Amino acid sequence: MTVIKGLEGIVATTSSISSIVDGVLTYRGYDIDDLAEHASFEETAFLLWFGNLPATAELEKLKRDLSDFAAIPEPLIAQMKLYPKDANTMAALRSAVSGLALYDEAADDMSRSANEIKAVKLQAQIPTIVAALARIRQGLEPIAPKPGFSIAENFLYMLRGEQPDMVSVKALDTGLVLHADHELNASTFAGRVTVATLSDIYSGVTSAIGALKGPLHGGANEAVMRMLEEIGSFENVEPYIRGKLARREKIMGFGHRVYKNGDPRAKHLMKMSRELGAMKGDTKLYDMSVKIEELITGQKGLKPNVDFYSASVYTQLGIDRELFTPIFAISRVSGWTAHILEQYEDNRIIRPRAEYTGLVEQKYVPVTER
Ligand code: ACO
Repeated sequence: MTVIKGLEGIVATTSSISSIVDGVLTYRGYDIDDLAEHASFEETAFLLWFGNLPATAELEKLKRDLSDFAAIPEPLIAQMKLYPKDANTMAALRSAVSGLALYDEAADDMSRSANEIKAVKLQAQIPTIVAALARIRQGLEPIAPKPGFSIAENFLYMLRGEQPDMVSVKALDTGLVLHADHELNASTFAGRVTVATLSDIYSGVTSAIGALKGPLHGGANEAVMRMLEEIGSFENVEPYIRGKLARREKIMGFGHRVYKNGDPRAKHLMKMSRELGAMKGDTKLYDMSVKIEELITGQKGLKPNVDFYSASVYTQLGIDRELFTPIFAISRVSGWTAHILEQYEDNRIIRPRAEYTGLVEQKYVPVTER
């Protein structure tokens, strides 16, 4: 047996959803740069689920469906109010999404049409759950979604309780496009492994949320912000980073399993971070981030990944860092569900092997004699 730790370089499935070739990320053949510049998140989600960009009537229908499905069951809101206020937001999201299944009579209907509806439902309801969790944590009542708003606009509206400005909506929408899918990343793989047992789509998305939570994956964006807060000032960037490197600690938001010459999504977030800082007349977070990048790339040759500049982008949108990884989930649920639908279409249980390295030829000894 040849053991490939972390399954690096292993091709575990075919997929027609997204690809990373020579550092270029595409969704269904469309370059992420093109989509980040021109597509809305709703168009992107449609593209991931159905394989083509929507025509006007298709997009309007999807927006209507997303609006119609956005409310979450009252008993679920009541349960969310019982979660400890200081619970990890991703843990709370994982529990709430698992709970959604209990209120969907079609949860175990494995037909393609039922699963497509559930994909749209999950996409519609996860932003509502995240906004509700954020408000409940602050001792506030959740706000019901507003019909006719886009996902980005509705999320900010439900979070803040007021009509969001269009600059914030556009920035968040682009962020959602950039995070929507990423080939066989850890959380998507977790989702596919789960549904490959023919378990339901809610189980798949719950597994994916669990995998996204970790700081080596989606949790890195929150960790980046914690680092920026710890550093505190531009002057402290250099001593802080040098200290971390001397202690051989990882710098969150840098490095990638697949991209060795840079993550194509990072430049968009970097630009957004710069523009938001300039607009607010305070470029401190952006300047600190650029300095960190200079040091890490200079010393370690590592480039920022999608999580690095998203931290300063979201903070400049007035979003608490506990919501960064849940916002990643708001976007990535489109990709997770597209992959889950694809897995069901041509399924085989995913069951690799392990090389055994434990003890051998042990003989049972009664407990009283051990
Ligand atoms: N800071 C410092 N050193 C690093 C970093 C980092 N962020 N990333 C990799 N390295 C070093 C490792 O220490 C290792 O060095 P060594 O060979 O001297 O031991 C070498 O680069 C290879 O790193 P691995 O961790 O083995 O690479 P792997 O492909 O397994 O992991 C990962 C990729 C998890 C993304 C890694 O780069 C990392 O931990 N980065 C920080 C966390 C992060 O930003 N995660 C988000 C990724 S993007 C996403 O999931 C959305």
